[in-house]
Amino acid sequence: MGENSLSSASITDGLETQFIGQRVIYYPRLASTMEVAKREARLGAAEGTVIIAGEQTAGRGRIGRFWLSPKGSIALSIILYPSLVYLPSLIMLASLAVVHSVEAVTGLKSQVKWPNDVLVNGRKVCGILIESDVLGDTVVYAIIGIGVNVNLRASDFPEISQFATSLSDELGGGISLLSLIRRLLIEVEGLYLTLLAGGSIYEEWRDNLVTLGKKVKVESGKNRYEGIAESVARDGSLLLRQANGSLTKIVAGDVTLRN
Ligand code: BTN
Repeated sequence: MGENSLSSASITDGLETQFIGQRVIYYPRLASTMEVAKREARLGAAEGTVIIAGEQTAGRGRIGRFWLSPKGSIALSIILYPSLVYLPSLIMLASLAVVHSVEAVTGLKSQVKWPNDVLVNGRKVCGILIESDVLGDTVVYAIIGIGVNVNLRASDFPEISQFATSLSDELGGGISLLSLIRRLLIEVEGLYLTLLAGGSIYEEWRDNLVTLGKKVKVESGKNRYEGIAESVARDGSLLLRQANGSLTKIVAGDVTLRN
């Protein structure tokens, strides 16, 4: 099924979730789903409201980067109102939900590159952006933005072709966008409910990280580090063993895997 068959109703009809995706606002073309999601959240949209675009013209990536979202990709944002304690788990939740749904719908195995890129055969297939507004110890809203390269040829886009791939490239055929979106929403809700029930998703996220045990270069703000990615803490930070033996905790950054 192509992107032309997408609509709010086709996503929500019979969707087996309690709240994630029970309200979907679909735009064939939009600057960024993050902007609309923020506006909706400030207006008090129901938890689990999803903003989805057939294509984005100004998709936002991490660290102020542009995110390419042509037709054939998934670009969606999910509005949540979690307690502060769950905020660090949202990156784990989002990447695991992608890993689960990609495997369920396509059979492809994927892995997570810290903190939350999803790779298939070592190439990036999905990016995740979490934005939140926190006042004191209250989360006013949190938005999970997920972009997946589904039915597109990465080689058609020189700006990403060196490091990215798409599910159709890896599978050698088209994928139902609708099935993948619906499955993704079910997986997000399942993992979120696990957290709310006091369960942990940290162990599974850690075990899916392709980064651990590898020699890496990390850019974190103005700082550059090199070392072995030894482990991750429960709050999602990376624990990097540097050549001088020190263990550095990195909360946010960009990792390059070294050979
Ligand atoms: C990254 O890897 O840099 C994160 C990319 C996140 C992209 C998604 S697509 C849906 C949502 N809307 C955006 O503008 N960005 C996120």
